[in-house]
Formats: sequence, structure tokens, C-alpha cells
Amino acid sequence: MNNFTFYSPTEFVFGKGTENQVNELVTKYGATKVLIVYGGGSVVRNALLTRIEESLNHQSVPYVTLGGIQPNPIDTKVYEGIDLCRHENVDFILAVGGGSVIDTAKAIATGVPYNGDFWDFYIQKAVVKSALNLGVVLTIPAAGSEGSGNSVITKSDTLQKLSIRVPELLRPRFAIMNPELTYTLPPYQTASGIADIMAHIMERYFNNTAETEVTDRLCEGLLKAIITEAPKVIKEPDNYGARANIMWSGMIAHNGICGVGCDEDWASHFMEHEVSAVYNVTHGAGLAVIFPAWMTWMASHHVEKIAQFAHRVWDIPESDNKKDMALQAVTYLKNFFISIGLPVTFEQLGIPDPDINLLVEKLHQNKGEYVGAYVRLSKKETLEIYKLAL
Ligand code: NZQ
Ligand code: ZN
Repeated sequence: MNNFTFYSPTEFVFGKGTENQVNELVTKYGATKVLIVYGGGSVVRNALLTRIEESLNHQSVPYVTLGGIQPNPIDTKVYEGIDLCRHENVDFILAVGGGSVIDTAKAIATGVPYNGDFWDFYIQKAVVKSALNLGVVLTIPAAGSEGSGNSVITKSDTLQKLSIRVPELLRPRFAIMNPELTYTLPPYQTASGIADIMAHIMERYFNNTAETEVTDRLCEGLLKAIITEAPKVIKEPDNYGARANIMWSGMIAHNGICGVGCDEDWASHFMEHEVSAVYNVTHGAGLAVIFPAWMTWMASHHVEKIAQFAHRVWDIPESDNKKDMALQAVTYLKNFFISIGLPVTFEQLGIPDPDINLLVEKLHQNKGEYVGAYVRLSKKETLEIYKLAL
């Protein structure tokens, strides 16, 4: 196991009715004026936004709002939020939504105290040294941004989708997680969220680090729990217990605990980010296409951990033919994704004729000559993997 620092100071407030505590929580973390950030309208339609505004009014916490954050969020809304915060003297940001809303809130939080373009952080031209505090009311388990120090933003003119990771400054101060708020999710968003959660675990699990039994078993147990709970939330969207388990799994999958001490991979995520940047597809659905293709390629090139995944997660009997075990696991994983309504090929994702050369070019322009750690992949290999997803 490698050396590591694990610092996860977010206060998670989980369960029914917990959004009613938002006023106490923003006050506890020192807010004097709040920017509420939200998405394309789901929180308006289900009246969550109204309840949050009422809660803040009750405590006399002044606020302003910024709505209209789109999935695969773009830089223009970040600039709008930075201007609004400066103009209104906002000192706390409350994200009400999913990864797109939270990531926009985080980007705004970095940009307000910075005397330059917030995009500098995403292209590694500058390092985040301070950020406004932020809190979250989560409405979709998927990106795990409620517990992570990451933010992913797309620059609208160049379609660069890039991320920053600043755990010490960008982990939310608090995250309110009421599983009931996820009942209104469209099935495709629920399923895409599940694929993203599983991918966050698998990106960490597929590594070459020795002596990681605790982390491995944590990942395997979590994946098994998700495989059990996922069909329940698809069949019964208002099954509280299943929604609660999926919601909590989304946090654990991505707050870092599943990767402590390991060399994480992330090639599939970076490959998917190019797909959602260029074709604006749902990130989790894109992963349901890319990750099995990555695993298929690995079955022929570096099979060990894929075979372990086959045996321990899918109960495929151990055999000397590890490639066969790995390929069976890919089939099980694909069938699982299909069973919850997800695509597993580019065509099913709605991209019958993807410009794979463009994806490869952009990927290596953004991420360098090699991506991934389980096997370091150059242009030749990432091209082969994209082709396996056709
Ligand atoms: O915009 P509204 O109207 O709210 O609708 C949203 C959106 O259309 C809808 N939705 C959310 N909660 C709902 C709901 N609809 C009904 N009822 C509810 N309770 O769901 C749609 C997707 O929302 P979004 O925020 O985009 O989902 P997600 O959480 O999957 O976030 C995706 C973004 O996060 C990034 C992805 O790349 C993508 O840009 N990621 C962020 C990460 C991080 N910060 O750590 C890590 C991830 O790997 C990921 O890359
Ligand atoms: Zn993801």
C-alpha cells in the first residue's frame, strides 16, 4: 500500500426531511449572504427550491439565485456566478442539484477570490489557493461531487472538458442527502448515475498496487451492494431503502476512501469526458459504453485485476484461463447495464458514427501522451479501445 493523506471534512446530513436543516447549516458555516445555484428546473418543479428559500428566509439569511446550469456544465455560467457573487458580496455558495450544479458552484467558489480567469485552474496555469465555502443539497446520486474535492467544467468555445482536484478547499462544508429527493429522477438519469458510481469505484480498483486488500474488499463489497440495489430503484423509484443505499454508495464511491493507498487509473473517465464534451451525452451513460470496452482491451493485455473482479464481484469461478474469466465479467457488466436501461455501444448511446480520431486527438491534447495507470495508454491503444465501443 502507498503512503496517503485522506482528508474528508464534509458534514453529511442524511435522511428524510434533512433539507429543512439548511438554514442552521449555512449559519453554522458562517454564511452572511448565499448564492443558491441550481439546474434546468427540476428543483423548481418539485418545489425543493421554494422550501430552501423559505428555510433561509426563516433564519433571515439573505440570498441570490443562479439557475439554468445544464448537464455537462459550461464556463459561461461560472463567469455569470463569479460576477454575481462579487456584485452581491456573497460569501457562501449553496448548490441544489447534482454534479453539474455542484461543479459549477465549486468553480465559482474558486473564481471569486482569484484575480484572474478561473479557467487558469483547469488548464493548470494557476493553483487554487482560496475558495468560498460551499454546501450542497444533493438531488441525484452519481458524480459524487457532494463528497469530492473535484470539479469538472467544459469550456464552451473549445469543448475542453477538464477537471480540478482540490480536496482541502473544495470539499463541501456540508452535504444534505435526502433519498426522497431522488424519487423524481427520470429512470435514465437514475441508471446513468449508477454507472457513474460503479465507474468511480472501478477506476480506483483496477490498479497495480500491492497489499491493498482492505481497499479492494471495500470496492468489491460496494459494487456487490450496488448490483443488488440498482434493479430495485429502477423498478420502484420510491423504494426508500434502495434509494438510500444507492445515494450513500455514490458518496463513498468518490470521496477517496475507495482509492486510498492505490495508484488509481481514470483512463475510462478521461476517454468518456471527450465523448460528453463533443456529443453532450450523459456522463454515466457514456461510461457504460467506454468502461466495458476498456475492460475488454485489458482482458488481452493485463488481465490480473479484471479476473479478480470477475471472481469476487460476479462470482465467476476461478480458472487458469483468466482471459476467459475477464471476458465473462465484461459480459455480466454489460448485461447489468442493459438490464437497467443503459447503452453499451456508441450506437446505442445515439452516436452511430463517432469521430474517433477527433476523440483521440482531443484526449491526448488535454491529458498528455499517456492516460491511465493500470496500463499506460498512448494514442494507438486509446484508439483501439474507442473502436471496441462501436
Ligand atoms: O437540471 P435539472 O432540471 O435539475 O435536471 C437534472 C439534469 O437534467 C436532472 N435531475 C437531477 N436531480 C433530479 C433531476 N431530475 C429530476 N429529479 C431530481 N431529483 O438530472 C440531470 C443530470 O444532472 P447532473 O447534475 O448533470 O448529473 P450528475 O450528478 O450525473 O453530474 C454530471 C456531471 O458531473 C461530472 C460529469 O462529467 C458531468 O459533467 N462529474 C463530476 C465529478 C466530480 N465533481 O467529482 C466526477 C464525475 O466523474 C463526473 O465527471
Ligand atoms: Zn464519473
